[in-house]
Amino acid sequence: MTSLAGHPGYGQTVAKIILFGEHSVVYGHPAVAMPLQSLKMTAEVEPSDGPGTLAGLGWSGPLDKAPARFSSIIRAAEVASAFAGHAGAHLHITTDAGFPAERGLGSSAAAAGAVIRAVLDAFDAPATPDEIFTLTQQAERVAHGRPSGLDAVATSADGPVHFRGGVVTELDVSPDAWIVIADSGIQGSTRETVGHVRARYEADPDSVGAVLARLGDITDEVIALLHERDTPAIGRRATEAHRLLASLGVSNDRLDILVNAALSAGALGAKLTGGGRGGCVIAFADSEESAHRIEHAFVTAGAAGTWVHAPEPGSLAGEVAR
Ligand code: MEV
Repeated sequence: MTSLAGHPGYGQTVAKIILFGEHSVVYGHPAVAMPLQSLKMTAEVEPSDGPGTLAGLGWSGPLDKAPARFSSIIRAAEVASAFAGHAGAHLHITTDAGFPAERGLGSSAAAAGAVIRAVLDAFDAPATPDEIFTLTQQAERVAHGRPSGLDAVATSADGPVHFRGGVVTELDVSPDAWIVIADSGIQGSTRETVGHVRARYEADPDSVGAVLARLGDITDEVIALLHERDTPAIGRRATEAHRLLASLGVSNDRLDILVNAALSAGALGAKLTGGGRGGCVIAFADSEESAHRIEHAFVTAGAAGTWVHAPEPGSLAGEVAR
């Protein structure tokens, strides 16, 4: 009798928000994203000699009967098992998400990343961050076609990241802003909105290309403004970015209502974050008091959930409090 290879493995990632540069990043423009350390995604994996199973994210059952929305998790387990030298391994996979899926918070990359880490742990297979990134991207391609890699990096970063042309650097600046996040309660499909922008771009490369280029310029301007600590100007760029994204057809009424509610409540600026047509919006506030006023306005305007991200002196990383 042969003993079963591996042992129970564990992996963890976090949610992310894109501060600036969603969609335009797919066309090579820069973006800035930030991990939300207190919104965690965990995965546990147990090698098995029977058929694989999946539990979590609202579903439980045999792996080969899992609905299509789990295809990137299944792919994540496959590519990580192959990387670890155990291609085709049978696994019991359990995931646990501390934040909603399909809201632009990076749940597909976070789930794939957590499963990959758990499988590597289960088979004691060391991997570099670059190798884990490549595996996560292989899984992400199943979830939304041509991922930029931003979600794969940001959902496992220690702090905010600047992404340009596939190269990721850590940001060393700290906006003096509270960031208030509101969940529209509507599922957005990144695959769909990325495809929508692609179709618009192919139909009219000049004008859509100009909008995408302006979104990229906004990201560059924001990085300079972060160094100058000019938060009101960053807020204005956020609202401009929202209007540009809306002009590309990736906003919707609910997101516009939430953005307007934040602005009426005194936000320095507000925008959708992530793929759009659902998902979340973010608002910038200059004080804790203002942040809570905005949070209240979000709830009154129908937000399904809210989170407040506090700034930390000297760094963008803060604490997320419900
Ligand atoms: C989705 O969170 C971000 C997009 O820019 C897609 C991507 O970067 O792959 C819309």
